[in-house]
Amino acid sequence: MDIEFVRSRFVKHFDGKSGNVYASPGRINLIGEHTDYNGGYVFPGAVDKGVIAEIRANGTSDTVMAYAIDLKDRVDFKLSDPDGPRASWARYIYGIALEMQAVGVPVKGFNIAFAGDVPLGAGMSSSAAMESCFAFGQATEHKYIGVNCGIMDQFASVFGKAGCLMRLDCRSREFQYFPFKPDGYRLVLLDSAVKHQLSGSPYNDRRNSCENVVRHIAAHHPEGTFETLRDCTWEQLEEVRAEVGEEDYKRAHFVLGEKDRVLGVCEALNAGDYERVGELMYQTHEGLSKEYEVSCEELDFLNQIARDNEVTGSRIMGGGFGGCTINLVRNDLYQRFIADAKKRFCERYGHEPKVIDVVIGDGSRRLC
Ligand code: GLA
Repeated sequence: MDIEFVRSRFVKHFDGKSGNVYASPGRINLIGEHTDYNGGYVFPGAVDKGVIAEIRANGTSDTVMAYAIDLKDRVDFKLSDPDGPRASWARYIYGIALEMQAVGVPVKGFNIAFAGDVPLGAGMSSSAAMESCFAFGQATEHKYIGVNCGIMDQFASVFGKAGCLMRLDCRSREFQYFPFKPDGYRLVLLDSAVKHQLSGSPYNDRRNSCENVVRHIAAHHPEGTFETLRDCTWEQLEEVRAEVGEEDYKRAHFVLGEKDRVLGVCEALNAGDYERVGELMYQTHEGLSKEYEVSCEELDFLNQIARDNEVTGSRIMGGGFGGCTINLVRNDLYQRFIADAKKRFCERYGHEPKVIDVVIGDGSRRLC
């Protein structure tokens, strides 16, 4: 994906003038899934794939003319229209502009054209890449798209740094860069091509379950402050087990375990112990599959293939309900693993998983 490609379309579709070009990446997450909206830790990094957008003020007070290059779809809308555009990709632009207005940034009419190379629906945050090209992505997801996501995706997209993962504490928003160049290993994603769509999915139900458990624990301990599961202990979870029911209990049980696993991965990385990192990744997969129940048959199968090939670590990445697995694999096992995954997945589902080698890239930036 390059600037010239986006520029040529921008110039052709609007009035022949060029604007400013911005790039924003998708992300991976090594470990720490569904912990962000529970006040826990995540361990993401930006990737070398994302969205490039060219933008220019068009002199109108509130008309946005937007062109999605990959979809060859043009949508014009007014920021003053209370309903906004129907096309979901255009709703991101509408939502971001309105959120900026809401915090006092004067947003007037503009033209925009954008293209991307983050696979859509793979759980690599193509939507956050789009939003971070502007700003205020998380509020846009909540109010205009209907996904009550946490802060991980937009954070990783904006603050990513080439060669580094980040450990983000989603409660305090403090973060630390961790150089990630695992000697002798590599990270690869296998995209099941099961389209993960979080809006309208049980993603919001998972969040509600977690919040329900917190409310119950808080009611037992009026002396304490319980904002998220981050504030709750294993013992407190056991106390409310019967009253919240087995399903919500399992969800919260996963989240408490996942918080500890992220810290375990940090320790292992500091010690250069990638085999331990991998063990924790497999544990996360188990939890996401059996307790949080956001996996699907195809992802469990890819995880099994990783185990069969002695891959160091493998798990569902992102929100789940489809998308890809992230795999930490020794260089000498890589070819065999990929060949086996392609063959066996194709035999069962009639197509190969898409192989995406992870390169950790920089966050949002202006290109010209
Ligand atoms: C999606 C959401 C994130 C996060 C992950 C799960 O990507 O957008 O905020 O909750 O799922 O870790």
